[in-house]
Amino acid sequence: MRPIETKKELDKILNRTPSSNTLGLVPTMGALHKGHLALVKKAVQENDRVVVSIFVNPTQFNNKEDLVKYPKDLSKDLELIESVDPDIIVFAPSVEEIYAQSVRPKKYDFQGLDNVMEGEFRDDHFNGVGTIVEQLFSLIQPNNAYFGEKDFQQLRIIKKLVEIQKIPVNIIPCPIVREDHGLAMSSRNERLSENIRLKAGFIFKTLQTAKEKFGTKSALKVKEWVKNQFLKEEDFEMEYFEIADVETLSPLKRKVKNKKYRAFIAVYAEDIRLIDNIALN
Ligand code: PAF
Repeated sequence: MRPIETKKELDKILNRTPSSNTLGLVPTMGALHKGHLALVKKAVQENDRVVVSIFVNPTQFNNKEDLVKYPKDLSKDLELIESVDPDIIVFAPSVEEIYAQSVRPKKYDFQGLDNVMEGEFRDDHFNGVGTIVEQLFSLIQPNNAYFGEKDFQQLRIIKKLVEIQKIPVNIIPCPIVREDHGLAMSSRNERLSENIRLKAGFIFKTLQTAKEKFGTKSALKVKEWVKNQFLKEEDFEMEYFEIADVETLSPLKRKVKNKKYRAFIAVYAEDIRLIDNIALN
């Protein structure tokens, strides 16, 4: 399987697709795992042709070291994609190909969705995500684009991006895929030591118990309880735990009947940042 590296070649290949065919896009930053493959399989089932993009997008990294250490293994990624379907088109451009003018994110007004949680701790992160996703949508013009719910805030912001930029694409959310003990699949998990990776099931267990407690306790009490669990665990440092409305992502102050809430968490383990979330009702 040979990846397409230039916009020109991608354009040539995509132009051969009859317009009645549906095109699915799975945007990734590579270092693929079972979570990505679930998105790819769904895209293959639901579309005539599928593009998987592999691009470690520099404008969404607020931390240089995180960008440098982000895992990369293009040949393994290509093997995994080929094992799902050899006809998938892989677009793996260089940074110069994507950011010819300047490696800077555009500025968007995501109407507050980017002010909380990840947005609060990762400066300009969502402007960087918006910049690359908008460019991929414009180059590939997919009918359907697939994103995992592990990055739930990102998913919500991409829906907003499509709305504000009036991009004709269906955003398809896909459930979180977990390791056997509950740790949400992430390319960053590769960087954890075996010992900590095994212990990291603790993050999801805590979210599950928080969900049970949310049935009878206030958001404040649940937040306090989660914070205390992490204070007792020296291998994991909690950056934030938030309970938010799934539509507005605003932190919950008082439960409102018929509203849907989700709990969100970011944790450091061995200096590696892990995020997860769970539907509460
Ligand atoms: O979720 C990711 O892997 C990235 O944020 C995305 C959507 C591919 C944009 O770089």
